[in-house]
Amino acid sequence: MQHNIILVGLMGAGKSTIGRQLARRLNLEFYDSDKVIEERTGVSIPTIFAIEGEQGFRDREEQIIEELCALPGILLATGGGSVLRETNRAHIKAGGCVIYLRASADQLFQRIKHDKNRPLMQTDKPLQTLRDLLKAREPLYMEVADLIVPTGKQKANIILRDIHNKL
Ligand code: S3P
Repeated sequence: MQHNIILVGLMGAGKSTIGRQLARRLNLEFYDSDKVIEERTGVSIPTIFAIEGEQGFRDREEQIIEELCALPGILLATGGGSVLRETNRAHIKAGGCVIYLRASADQLFQRIKHDKNRPLMQTDKPLQTLRDLLKAREPLYMEVADLIVPTGKQKANIILRDIHNKL
């Protein structure tokens, strides 16, 4: 059985972009937990938040994380808030090698400031929101991580090489 790789980190850290490329290089099947939720429900993440609230979304996320972490030979890009629930952290840790893609709130903000698909960022002060989320979640990303990879300033190919060297 091939060892899975699971990417964690905040919105904009590059989990999907880096994940897709890394999966190709390592010959792993790529999954993005948010995309799987959207495919299953047939609606977007903002629509799920609007109809079911954040807790409704988190319940769906928990179910998908458990399911995907049990698959062999995959690279999983998780949603930024998936580490919030202890059950998810346990599944993520048990699911494979966990890589925390790390960046500062300012760097993340530059990447996602124009993106309307992240309900948690639809606030008056999105940069401050990101800072608060990072402060609250950093210990949780650290708790599950086997590897920590900075993604702040680097280009994708440099990040990929960095991960390759650390694996
Ligand atoms: C969330 C991050 C999003 C998505 C949802 C909630 C979060 O995923 O799951 O909007 O709580 O940080 P990305 O990290 O892929 O943007």
